[in-house]
Amino acid sequence: MSDKNTTDAYSRGARKYEIKWKKYLDHTHSKLLAEFECTPEDKILDVSAGTGLFAEHLKEAGFGFRSMTLNDVSAGMLKLARDRFSGIESINFHCDYAEELSFEPNSFDVVVSMNAFHNYAGQERALEQVQRVLKPGGQFYLLDWNRSGLFRVVNRLIKLSVPEIINTRSASEAKKMVERVGLKVESEQEWSYSYWKFFLIRASKK
Ligand SMILES: C[S@@+](CC[C@H](N)C(=O)[O-])C[C@H]1O[C@@H](n2cnc3c(N)ncnc32)[C@H](O)[C@@H]1O
Repeated sequence: MSDKNTTDAYSRGARKYEIKWKKYLDHTHSKLLAEFECTPEDKILDVSAGTGLFAEHLKEAGFGFRSMTLNDVSAGMLKLARDRFSGIESINFHCDYAEELSFEPNSFDVVVSMNAFHNYAGQERALEQVQRVLKPGGQFYLLDWNRSGLFRVVNRLIKLSVPEIINTRSASEAKKMVERVGLKVESEQEWSYSYWKFFLIRASKK
């Protein structure tokens, strides 16, 4: 299993992604939207933006922002994001690994990683990058699968049946990693949905 397997799997499935996972995506995106805050001056980075669905939800919900950078390593997913927002100046696109972000330090007011942390080969390295590119006082939202309770069994079955990297953490493991890179955890929640378990961690840079 490698990063390339993950990237290729998402690129292959990109066209059907939003239809296949509609209920899951409606659920997770509404959870993050309910907690999300930004101002019209903010520069936002979505580290693993996929097809750009969260940016669409932000726009539909009336959130204003100065700019939003949609990053993803899968060219297939990112192409759909580009098509979705073509001609919209405030939205731009980038194709870096989360572990190797090429942005300048202190570039963003808000960083998001949603439904993707379990796919990162270098999770702590990715968090270091988030810490580096966030401005002091900036906010980080990390929403992902939570390897706890019965979901550990489901997670194991998913891991055995898909080509992409599945490296799911519990909420407490993720929280420790976030703190280790120097971010301050402001709030956290854990919940179940269908056979999944999730966490949402909000952290800030001092
Ligand atoms: C389940 S999708 C989630 C997409 C989007 N955040 C959403 O909620 O619709 C996971 C995304 O993470 C991306 N991804 C996986 N590993 C990555 C990495 N190391 N760096 C950046 N993006 C990655 C995949 O290409 C894919 O688009």
